[in-house]
Amino acid sequence: MSIARQRRRLGNSAIEVSSVGLGCWPMAGMTTIGANSSDSLDTIRAAFDAGINFLDTAFAYGAAGESDAVIAKFLPECERSDLVVATKGGIHWDADGKRVNDARPAVLRSELEQSLERLRTDYVDLFYLHAPDPNVPIAESAGGCRELLESGLARTIGVSNVDVSQLDAFTAECPIVACQPPYNILQRGIESDIIPWCKEHSVSVVTYWPLMKGLLAGKLKRDHQFAEKDSRKNYEVFQGKQWELNQDFVDVLREISRESGHSVAEIVVNWTINQPGITTALCGAKRADQIRETARAMTWSIADGHLQKIQSAFELREQKLAN
Ligand SMILES: NC(=O)c1ccc[n+]([C@@H]2O[C@H](COP(=O)([O-])OP(=O)(O)OC[C@H]3O[C@@H](n4cnc5c(N)ncnc54)[C@H](OP(=O)(O)O)[C@@H]3O)[C@@H](O)[C@H]2O)c1
Repeated sequence: MSIARQRRRLGNSAIEVSSVGLGCWPMAGMTTIGANSSDSLDTIRAAFDAGINFLDTAFAYGAAGESDAVIAKFLPECERSDLVVATKGGIHWDADGKRVNDARPAVLRSELEQSLERLRTDYVDLFYLHAPDPNVPIAESAGGCRELLESGLARTIGVSNVDVSQLDAFTAECPIVACQPPYNILQRGIESDIIPWCKEHSVSVVTYWPLMKGLLAGKLKRDHQFAEKDSRKNYEVFQGKQWELNQDFVDVLREISRESGHSVAEIVVNWTINQPGITTALCGAKRADQIRETARAMTWSIADGHLQKIQSAFELREQKLAN
C-alpha cells in the first residue's frame, strides 16, 4: 500500500491527513525523559519525510509551549499548506505545575492566540477543546470554539476526552471534524460508543496512545526498571498483574514480528489505523528513529492469520484480567 493512499479526509472538511500523525507531547519534555529541541526538530523532519503531514500539539505541551516552538522551527522548511497543524486549548499548568482545566471562551481564544504566536503562523488547521471544563457548560466552550472558527484562526474544530453526551452538546453549538480519544490494541473502550457516534456524524476519530506510552512498542522488557522520574510507572498497565499480562500479549506480537519482518510498533500502529472508523493514530516520538519506525505502519497490511492471532491473544488477556 502506498503512502499516498494513506491520506484520509478529516471529517467533512477538505483537509487530508496521514493515517499516522506525529504526537508532539514527548517533545514537551514534561513526562518524557531526555527530550531536547534538536532531536525534536529532527523528529518532525523525519516524520515529514516519511509521509506524515499531521502534527498534534497543544497549548499545554510544555511549561512554555516547547512543542509549539519546535514546530515553529520546522514550518519554514515546508509549504504551510503541506502541513496540518492541530492544537488544543482548555488545559494549562499553574505556577506549581498543577494541571488546570479552564475552557471559558475567552481563555480558549487567548490560548489559541498565544499558540499561533509561538508557532509563528496565522492559523491552525484544527483546534480541539482539550477536555471539558467541569466548571463551564460544554455548550459555552463550544460557542467559544465556533467564534474561533468564524474568525479564521482555526480552519476546523475538534474535541478531545469527551463522552457521547458531551459530543451531542458540543455539536449543537459548533460543528466538528474530529474527536480525539485514547485508543489502542489493548484499550478498545471507544468501539462501542465514540466510534459509532463519529461514523454516524462523519467525524474523524484521531486516536492518542496507540503505543500505550511505549508499552506497545515492544522494547520494554519484562524486567524493565523504570527510572525514578519516569511517570509511566504510575499507570496500571505498567504495574503488577496488568504488566505481566501485557508482556504476555506483547510476546505474541514479538512472535508475529519475527514471522512478518515488521517491528512490534509497526504491527500495533498498522492494526490501529486499519480499524473501522479510525482516521489517524497519533504516535508520540522524541527521536527521529522512533517516528520513522511507526510511520512505516502506513506502507503495508497485516496478514489475516496474524490478525486472528492478535485477536486470540487479546481475548485471552481479557479473560485473565477478569479472573
Ligand atoms: N488529547 C489528549 O488528552 C492527549 C493525551 C495524550 C496524548 N495525546 C496526543 O497523542 C500523542 C500520542 O500519545 P503519547 O505520546 O503519550 O503516547 P504513545 O504514542 O502511545 O507512545 C509514545 C512513546 O512511545 C515510545 N516510542 C515511540 N515510538 C517508539 C519506537 N519506535 N520504539 C520504541 N519506543 C517508541 C516513546 O517513549 P520513550 O522514548 O520514552 O521510550 C514515546 O514517547 C501525544 O504525543 C499527543 O500528541 C493527546
